Amino acid sequence: MSYQAAKELEESAYYYASQAIKMDSQGSYATAITYYQKAIATLIKLAQLYPDYKLNKMYLERAAAYQERVKALQAARGSTSSDGSDNPVTQTVQASKGVETLKATFDDLVMKEKPNVRWEEVIGLDDAKKAIKESIIFPVKRPDLFPLGWPRGILLYGPPGCGKTMLAAAAASEIEGYFITVDAASIMSKWLGEAEKNVSKLFSYARRLLDDNGPVIIFIDELDSLLGTRSQEVGGEVRVRNQFLKEMDGIMDKGKTLQLYVIGATNKPWSLDSPFLRRFQKRIYVPLPDLRARLEMFKLYTAPLKLDSSVDLNQLAKLTEGYSGSDIRDICQSVQLRVVSELFESGAAVDKNAQPREIRMQDFKEVLRYRRPSVSQEMLRAYITWTENFKAL
Ligand SMILES: Nc1ncnc2c1ncn2[C@@H]1O[C@H](COP(=O)(O)OP(=O)(O)O)[C@@H](O)[C@H]1O
Ligand SMILES: [Mg+2]
Repeated sequence: MSYQAAKELEESAYYYASQAIKMDSQGSYATAITYYQKAIATLIKLAQLYPDYKLNKMYLERAAAYQERVKALQAARGSTSSDGSDNPVTQTVQASKGVETLKATFDDLVMKEKPNVRWEEVIGLDDAKKAIKESIIFPVKRPDLFPLGWPRGILLYGPPGCGKTMLAAAAASEIEGYFITVDAASIMSKWLGEAEKNVSKLFSYARRLLDDNGPVIIFIDELDSLLGTRSQEVGGEVRVRNQFLKEMDGIMDKGKTLQLYVIGATNKPWSLDSPFLRRFQKRIYVPLPDLRARLEMFKLYTAPLKLDSSVDLNQLAKLTEGYSGSDIRDICQSVQLRVVSELFESGAAVDKNAQPREIRMQDFKEVLRYRRPSVSQEMLRAYITWTENFKAL
């Protein structure tokens, strides 16, 4: 997505919402309603234009909350004018009680449900799986075997769409313990207040969960955004960074046996500076899928599709050198879309029982002709160079 355009929309939504809440708490309900409505429209537009944007869930929840608020205010105004017996003081108190819940809170940032991904569903990446399991499971089982301590920071890095987020989700569902998932963009979001406070709340929340029942793992996706340009004020990103470093050191110093881990994922490892990297002692490269992994991916993603006998998955795996896991999933999706749109165009889809024709090898070839790998050779070289210099498995 165009980061800049989304950011501008986000800024205006934030402006409208804060004006609305301010007017609301001052009792200027008519103006508040207008601002709420502008905020709602902007948030919805943001979600429609950038359907994959990570903060959409939060934005749509905010929009729904504002909608409720508008309804309540309109109802209250309606009743005031009809019976005229409202006590303005009680009305204001009720109104401002609602206002607090309209602000986004730290809770909006944290995802607490365990995801439902198994190690087996993450194709390939055996080294990465092993490294994650070992770095967390060994010290949890036998801390006495680590007299010098053990790494608390694990960095997953590599090209986009190769399974970093999936790996962390699998770790979350398969390692006993607590798992806290946040993405760095939401930590930095103006909606949730000052970013460095979000960082410190995150770690204190994690420390509160610590008990003897297993490790607490914080997963921060898109870690590089913590250092990025998204910060709202000059100098803001430095404070966030420093707060983060301080918290990481706190884990290392205060409790040599503390079972608190931070897994970070990034597509841009080179934007992490060396103090930052030093806190991630374990650095795991999540590469593009090799031939075998690509074959497994084609098997997985074509399993629900109807293929005719011309489709040769081995050959597809060979043809897709350089493509990522998410590219391969997209290819299978596009191929299915081809046969479905044929069905619609022929008019046959009105019959609810009509089925698309079987998918042929030729369909894959045509999709591949227009679908280049999303990771360029140049990008790939950058990962390899970075790995030579900084990998630490
Ligand atoms: N190793 C893999 N095994 C299975 N599916 C994968 C793999 N890598 C990527 N995918 C597919 O691509 C999607 C995006 O992967 P993701 O984990 O978000 O990548 P990353 O975090 O590295 O950018 C996944 O949801 C999955 O459908
Ligand atoms: Mg990801």
